[in-house]
Amino acid sequence: MLHDRVVSRSYSLSSSKLSRCVLFLSLSYIFFVQMYASANRLQQVRKPGPTPGPNPCPSPEPKPGPSPRPAPTPTPPGARNTTFPAIFAFGDSIVDTGNNNYILTLVRANFLPYGMNFPHGVPTGRFCNGKIPSDFIAEFLGIKPVLPPYLRPGLTREDLLTGVSFASGGSGYDPLTPIEVRAIPMSDQLTYFQEYIEKVKGFAGKEKAEHIISKSLAIVIAGSDDLANTYYGTHTEEFLYDIDSYTSFMATSAASFAMQLYESGARKIGFIGVSPIGCIPIQRTARGGLHRKCADEVNVAAQLFNSKLSTSLHSMAETLKNATLVYIDIYSLFTHMIQNPEEYGFDEIDKGCCGTGLIELGPLCNQFTSLLCNNVSSYMFWDSYHPTERAYRILTKKFVEDDLSPFYDK
Ligand SMILES: *[C@@H]1O[C@H](CO)[C@@H](O)[C@H](O)[C@H]1NC(C)=O
Ligand SMILES: *[C@@H]1O[C@H](CO)[C@@H](O)[C@H](O)[C@H]1NC(C)=O
Ligand SMILES: *[C@@H]1O[C@H](CO)[C@@H](O)[C@H](O)[C@H]1NC(C)=O
Repeated sequence: MLHDRVVSRSYSLSSSKLSRCVLFLSLSYIFFVQMYASANRLQQVRKPGPTPGPNPCPSPEPKPGPSPRPAPTPTPPGARNTTFPAIFAFGDSIVDTGNNNYILTLVRANFLPYGMNFPHGVPTGRFCNGKIPSDFIAEFLGIKPVLPPYLRPGLTREDLLTGVSFASGGSGYDPLTPIEVRAIPMSDQLTYFQEYIEKVKGFAGKEKAEHIISKSLAIVIAGSDDLANTYYGTHTEEFLYDIDSYTSFMATSAASFAMQLYESGARKIGFIGVSPIGCIPIQRTARGGLHRKCADEVNVAAQLFNSKLSTSLHSMAETLKNATLVYIDIYSLFTHMIQNPEEYGFDEIDKGCCGTGLIELGPLCNQFTSLLCNNVSSYMFWDSYHPTERAYRILTKKFVEDDLSPFYDK
């Protein structure tokens, strides 16, 4: 259980201020949820097809130009002598580098201030002020500085050969999670992956394509939205499942995703667990009481899911031939950062940098209504849900250095 030391920071609100604040929060939250709901009624997720359809918005991501691979960052300890030809990312907003720009959903971040610290200060659809873990993994492994989203039109062969993200903000292991917000379900992310493989076979040949798929790193991260949005947010599944059976269901769905990645040819597969999402600002606001404590119940659920995910991947790993299937923990470091922010140079860990920091997320974090914090680097969270680039960099560096050794060829 996460004991939250930071709540002692005093919140001296007068009672009238407090009631106005609560009213504002409730109205905003209702507004946000209703926008999602109306989006659901009106809009349809584009199904994967053989060719990505017409592009509804111009590609905002700057082309890195003709620059070749970045100078490889210092080899992480344990990296020995392996290079991964490519990185593939699956899951939710933590690794979605912009796929949601190309589908009809309100779970988007392709407007300022999102992206203000991304190269050239452009919003790209990443749910952050800058780069996100999928980018950092590619950067730290010396593959490329940023990982493009698969749905972005005009990807080059080189872009495809070195990897893409299939992830979609708002998705999850529970099939209901992406449906509620019109995100790309995990099953469709796999369909896109298979479509990708066929494309690469088409221009690079079957053998090279299979080599790339089997030697590259496939990273999967999801589950936060199942717990925070579907189970504890809209309570959609709370009546059908207790948390023990819901987390089992999530872990089973994750294991089946792992099996399907394997069947598609992936051989180096890492699943990242859920972070202490009871401590993200919006959970503190919604469930943490007046002092905005961490929502312990949600953290317990995250830990329960992580341990089930770890167990089921471990037992599956023993049956998969020639494959490495690994559970990667970020819960511990994340918790340590929240409990010891000064060690990491963070002054603020319970509010996001965008707006009041209490609720803003997606469309509610925008350049028209949201003031920004003075120093985003001193904040652990960018919006009420997602870490800042600097927090993501710390988290990603740790697991790239410490947890990837099983993937290096002997
Ligand atoms: C890495 O491996 C390649 C091929 O196995 C070998 O030629 C090269 O010398 C190795 N490099 C280092 C630094 O060990
Ligand atoms: C495992 O690797 C060996 C040696 O590379 C190969 O002969 C065998 O077919 C592989 N098995 C599977 C299931 O991929
Ligand atoms: C912003 O925060 C970072 C991290 O704590 C710190 O290193 C930096 O000096 C701060 N910048 C300013 C202008 O205060």
